[in-house]
Amino acid sequence: MKQTYVSQLQDHVGQEVTVRGWLYNSRIKGKIVFLLVRDGTGTVQSVVSQGEVAPPTWEAANQATQESSLSVTGTVRADARAPGGHELSVKGIEVHQLVTGEYPITPKEHGVDFLMRHRHLWLRSKRQHAILRVRATIVRAIRDYFDGLGFLLVDAPIFTPAACEGTTTLFEVGYFDEKAYLTQSGQLYMEAAAMAHGKVYCFGPTFRAEKSKTRRHLTEFWMVEPEVAYAELDDVMELAQGLVCRIVGDVLARHREDLAVLERDPAPLSRVVPPFPRISYDEAVRLLAEKGHVVEPGNDFGAPDETAISEHFDRPVLVHRYPAQVKAFYMKPDPADPTKALCVDMIAPEGYGEIVGGGQRADSLLYLEQRIAEHRLPKEAFEWYLDLRKYGSVPHGGFGLGVERTVAWICGIEHVRETIPFPRMLYKIYP
Ligand code: 4AD
Ligand code: MG
Repeated sequence: MKQTYVSQLQDHVGQEVTVRGWLYNSRIKGKIVFLLVRDGTGTVQSVVSQGEVAPPTWEAANQATQESSLSVTGTVRADARAPGGHELSVKGIEVHQLVTGEYPITPKEHGVDFLMRHRHLWLRSKRQHAILRVRATIVRAIRDYFDGLGFLLVDAPIFTPAACEGTTTLFEVGYFDEKAYLTQSGQLYMEAAAMAHGKVYCFGPTFRAEKSKTRRHLTEFWMVEPEVAYAELDDVMELAQGLVCRIVGDVLARHREDLAVLERDPAPLSRVVPPFPRISYDEAVRLLAEKGHVVEPGNDFGAPDETAISEHFDRPVLVHRYPAQVKAFYMKPDPADPTKALCVDMIAPEGYGEIVGGGQRADSLLYLEQRIAEHRLPKEAFEWYLDLRKYGSVPHGGFGLGVERTVAWICGIEHVRETIPFPRMLYKIYP
């Protein structure tokens, strides 16, 4: 079907075009009807004058209801006052499906549960449209960044025989006569791939059976996980900083209008430039104490602690060397203080919490065997992983960046549920 997209109208001023889309809104003013038609690339005001169209067209314009699908044919006019800068003087309308009955999502306020149950329709509204556009650019920025640095994309499996990030958030699935788990992270496989290709990354969905309802947790989320052979903790921090700068830069360059729709102030994003502050866990604990937050010795930070840390800085902050006991089994202990792990979390500004977790991996066979036993992980399932320490072990490291938390921060959205097309959360799997 021949059609012109709203985003291309500037190339067709004075010409007759057909825009195919859905009716976002309409206003009737005497002998003129204003149809706001959206087609996915934008919205155009289409003006129907009773005196200039055939009676059936005039009737169609008056009867069209919200979200009816239609094609409008008319002449493109530049008009600075019109939304988007262009307007259509309509000659003809073809209604594909007339919506009878009220469209569930009206301009009035709906509760979030209602909107979530109508997620398949909610996606059409302006804010949701803007968020998914920004998300797509973030995904592209991630790929461009790693591809540009010579990383090889290596896909990790979804069915896995064992836990990577602790046994409490595993989704168990039947796998013929065995049990399997949905992947929590592709990291261990990327470690194998890094020993084959040097610099690799995987990028895909990961699963956590999170029993808590928070605004930062999904049960299915997307994570990018680079892994680099011959890398140490500082290299990992540098790589993560570069990635986040690239993401923010690309969004600022391409999505000013979408950020405006989201009422997201771009000023704090403009401050996301290197170098990011780097503080140790111990320094963060002292900073928190000054702000009246007590962290029990050796404990991880809670969400309010992360918010307090982020408020102290104007850009993302890298917090390194957490107590080894609160971190995963694969972390390398700090030779200067083995109670600490050579790990790093990046905490986003403005209270959006941890967006990156990673670090340097334990490269000693003996140490890993001990940790696997301490964590009561099934050794058989990790034999292959231990092989990596038997055959050419090297210092290496990497991290995972969660796409949804990154989108939430950059778009300035309270809850991660709006940052993924169809969110999966505790007891929520519809639509
Ligand atoms: O800190 P995490 O658990 O780290 C790992 O999985 C490492 N194996 C990554 C690696 O080193 N290759 O998760 C990394 C990031 C978090 O910082 C967060 O952004 C995101 O993944 N994340 C979640 N996002 C949404 N919902 C959840 N339940 C998440 N859990 C982690
Ligand atoms: Mg983490």
